[in-house]
Amino acid sequence: MGHTLFCDLELILLFTLFYFGQSQKPKPVLRVSRWWLSPGSSVTLSCEVEHESAGWSFYWYKAVPDLSHKSASYSYELLPASSNGTADNSYIIHGQTHTAGYVCRAGRGEPHVYTLYSQPHFVWSGDLHPSASLSVSPDRVQHFTSDSVSLTCEGNSAEWRVGRFLFDEELTFCSGWGKMNGSTCHAGELWSSTGVYWCESGSAFSNAVNITGQYDDLILLSPVHPVTEGHSLTLGCKSRTENLLSKVVFYQNDKLIQNDSRVEMIIPAVSKSHEGFYKCQSSGKESPQSWLTVKCEYTSLMF
Ligand SMILES: *[C@@H]1O[C@H](CO)[C@@H](O)[C@H](O)[C@H]1NC(C)=O
Ligand SMILES: *[C@@H]1O[C@H](CO)[C@@H](O)[C@H](O)[C@H]1NC(C)=O
Ligand SMILES: *[C@@H]1O[C@H](CO)[C@@H](O)[C@H](O)[C@H]1NC(C)=O
Ligand SMILES: *[C@@H]1O[C@H](CO)[C@@H](O)[C@H](O)[C@H]1NC(C)=O
Repeated sequence: MGHTLFCDLELILLFTLFYFGQSQKPKPVLRVSRWWLSPGSSVTLSCEVEHESAGWSFYWYKAVPDLSHKSASYSYELLPASSNGTADNSYIIHGQTHTAGYVCRAGRGEPHVYTLYSQPHFVWSGDLHPSASLSVSPDRVQHFTSDSVSLTCEGNSAEWRVGRFLFDEELTFCSGWGKMNGSTCHAGELWSSTGVYWCESGSAFSNAVNITGQYDDLILLSPVHPVTEGHSLTLGCKSRTENLLSKVVFYQNDKLIQNDSRVEMIIPAVSKSHEGFYKCQSSGKESPQSWLTVKCEYTSLMF
C-alpha cells in the first residue's frame, strides 16, 4: 500500500517534469532604459531570458495596436536590422519622438526554436502630435477619487481605444474601467488609479499623460500636457469641501515660491527652470506634489 502510493507520487512527479519540460517555453522580459522620451535621447531595450543564457539570437519588434480584438492585442513588426536576430541582448533606438510599444523574443538552434514574446513595454511621449492626441477633462494631473474624468482621443481615425498602465498592474483598456462613447472614454469615480493614460488607433499611439487619483482633501491644479517655454502657466489649488480657498501657498521642489493673497499662481512666461514638482497648501492642508514638464519651443520643429 505504502509502496504503491510512493510509486504514484513518483509518476506524478515524472509527468510534471515532462509536461513543463515540453510545453513551458520561456518568456523573456523586456526592459527599457527610460519610460518617458525626451528630445534627442536614445532608448535602450534589453531582453532577458531567465535561467537560460547561452546561444540566443534576439528579435526586436514594434507593437502595432490591433483594434479588431476586444482584448489588449497588438501585432508585432520587426524592427530594422533585426530580421536575422541580434547576438547582443540589447537594442538602441535613436530619434524616437512618439509614444511606442516594444516587444522582444529570442530564438536558437537549427531549426530555430523561439521563446514566447515578451509583454509589450511602452516608452511614452507627452508631446501632442497631429496623428493622434489625448486630452483630459478636467484638464489637470490630480483628481479627487470621486471625480468623473473624460479622456478624448483626436486624430485621423474613426476608432480608438484608451489604454492605461498603473505601476502595480498590467496594461488595461477603457472597456475594463470606463465607458467608451465614440472617441471619448468616460471614467467615473475610479481615480485612485494613478498611472499613465494614452490613446491607440489601428496605426498610431497618442501622447501620454500622467493622471493621479487622490484621497486627500486638497489637490493641485496643474496641466496634464507639457507647457511650452515662453507660454504662460496658471497653477491652482482645489479643496474637496470648500468652494473658495482664501489663502494658498505654492511650492516648487519643496521650496516656497508664492505666499500672498492670491489663490492662483501665474507664471507669464515659462522657462526650463520652472520644470519640477509642485504642490499647494491651504488651511493647514497640503496637496500631493506633481511633476510639471516644460518643453523647449524648438522641439516642435522636429516633427
Ligand atoms: C540576413 O541573412 C541573409 C542570409 O544569410 C542576408 O542575405 C541578409 O542580408 C541578412 N539581413 C540582415 C538585415 O542582416
Ligand atoms: C510623468 O511623470 C514622470 C515622473 O513621475 C515624468 O518624468 C514625466 O515627464 C511625466 N510626463 C508628463 C507628460 O508630464
Ligand atoms: C454619447 O455621446 C453623444 C454625443 O456627445 C451623446 O449624445 C450620447 O448621449 C452619448 N451616449 C451615451 C450612451 O452616453
Ligand atoms: C505666509 O505668510 C504669512 C504672513 O503673510 C505667514 O504668517 C505664514 O507663516 C507664511 N506661510 C508660510 C508657509 O511660510
